[in-house]
Order: sequence, then structure tokens, then C-alpha cells
Amino acid sequence: MAYEGLSESYSALMDAAKEAMSRAYVPYSNFRVGAALLDDAGHIHLGCNIENAAYSPTNCAERTALFSAIAGGKRPGQFKAIAVIGDTEGPIAPCGVCRQVLVELCAPDMPVIMGNLSGLWTISTVSGILPGAFTPASLENRER
Ligand code: THU
Repeated sequence: MAYEGLSESYSALMDAAKEAMSRAYVPYSNFRVGAALLDDAGHIHLGCNIENAAYSPTNCAERTALFSAIAGGKRPGQFKAIAVIGDTEGPIAPCGVCRQVLVELCAPDMPVIMGNLSGLWTISTVSGILPGAFTPASLENRER
């Protein structure tokens, strides 16, 4: 898939996200999402959404990629970019919970590349998709 105007490395990341999308476990929504997280060693951690009969235990693709990377030994801040893809009309929009988790584990200026199956894409940053976020630093600035 060609992502017109997107750099070669981010296009490759989007292709990896698409591969992860095919592994989604989505018996309830039938809505597949894939994510690919690039780390500071050049490795790519994949994530897909994994649903549950009780619905709320469902894990989004973005969090699957982040949690898998952390479980695999990466630490917060060691991530370079994340690509996310879904079968949406325009580029997929990560949910609020995933935005909050991105804020926790990634640098504010880390690129977030969002795309769809037609090759549409947009790029922002972790802080760009969750302005005014409650962050780990917020806990340090208590009045008492
Ligand atoms: N979902 C993701 O995995 N990532 C997103 O960015 C949006 C939503 C999943 C959760 C659920 O399995 C399905 O998409 C429908 O909400």
C-alpha cells in the first residue's frame, strides 16, 4: 500500500500495523485495528485489538502494542513512533484511553501516524492528540 507523501520508514510502520490488524480478535465488533510501535533499537512491536464477551476487558491495538513492548523489556520513553490503522473512512482516531496511555509511556513529541486502508493518513504527536493531559508530572505538583 502506498501512503502518498509519507516517509518510507513511516510507510513501513503503517504496513506493519496493517499486518497486525489482520490478527485482531474481534468477534463482537468485527472492527479490526492494528498498531506498530517503533522503538529506539529499530524494533517494531505489533498490537491488535482483542475483544472480550464481557466487552469492557477489550484491549485496543495501541495498548496491546505498548504493553507488549513493555513486557518485552522496553521502558517508557524508549519509543520513536507509533502507526495505527483501521478500516475507517478517514485516518483512524485513537480512543481516549489509548491517548492517555501514550502520554504515560511515550515522549510528548513522539509522532503518532494514523491511517486507513485506502491510504489516507495524518500525523500528530502524543501531546497533540491529548492536549492538557493529566501526566505523571501532575502527581508531583500537589498543593499538599
Ligand atoms: N479500537 C482500537 O483497537 N483502537 C482504536 O483506536 C479505536 C478502537 C477497538 C476497540 C474495539 O475492539 C473496536 O475497536 C471497536 O471499538
